[in-house]
Amino acid sequence: MPVLGVNVDHIATLRQARYRDDLKSPLAEPDPVTLARTAEKAGAQGITVHLREDRRHIQEIDVRRLRREAKTSLNLEMAVTPAMVAFALRLRPDEACLVPESREEVTTEGGLDVVGREKAVADAVRKLSKAGVEVSLFIDPQPAQIEAAARVGAPCIELHTGAYANATTPAKVRAALERQKKAAALAKSLGLRVNAGHGLNYKNVPPFLKAVPGLHTLNIGHSIVSRALAVGFGPAVAEMAALLRK
Ligand code: PXP
Repeated sequence: MPVLGVNVDHIATLRQARYRDDLKSPLAEPDPVTLARTAEKAGAQGITVHLREDRRHIQEIDVRRLRREAKTSLNLEMAVTPAMVAFALRLRPDEACLVPESREEVTTEGGLDVVGREKAVADAVRKLSKAGVEVSLFIDPQPAQIEAAARVGAPCIELHTGAYANATTPAKVRAALERQKKAAALAKSLGLRVNAGHGLNYKNVPPFLKAVPGLHTLNIGHSIVSRALAVGFGPAVAEMAALLRK
């Protein structure tokens, strides 16, 4: 049974829409740190944030507060850049997930190209691991990327589930699930811990879990934050945590 990591980026997206220039205002809402604690109390076993280069949602001040206040595992999604590696080495999150990043994309569109950036990724993995940070690599379910993840010494991967989430026909869904299943099996045979995330929701999680056994963590953000508008954040997290326990 995998555990639930809740991504609170989109809570900050909403706050930034109104309080971008006035973050310290007592009125600044919604607060991703307070709601991260709500998520933990509702069954999240990890909190994920992506400190993007353009700081479009989560800010450094949020991440520092989370480091102090989060009670579960803090997972920092980050680009493989010297500035982000230096930030993570100062912050010491429990986990760091290395992701690709380009300024234009609305969200993370594809997996990290470990094959193409092997030296830079290996360097970041080494530095972060030495500091006691558990590193995962956010990659597409492709054998070459998984083998490269093992070569660079990462202890963990996060399988990019976007292609599965976006599949529009039953045949495409089946093919995407098969790729995920094979990728997870290969990763585990190489000694890697396997997480998954991106585009997972209340509808596509049950068939995903049925098809892909042995996952450690599912990192989920957008669907939980969206559901929270109807039922409240704690209940939305609790519903997803219950789905994972089934
Ligand atoms: N995992 C990673 C590495 C991501 O980049 C994202 C998106 O920020 C997620 C999980 C969560 O995706 P979603 O918000 O679609 O649930």
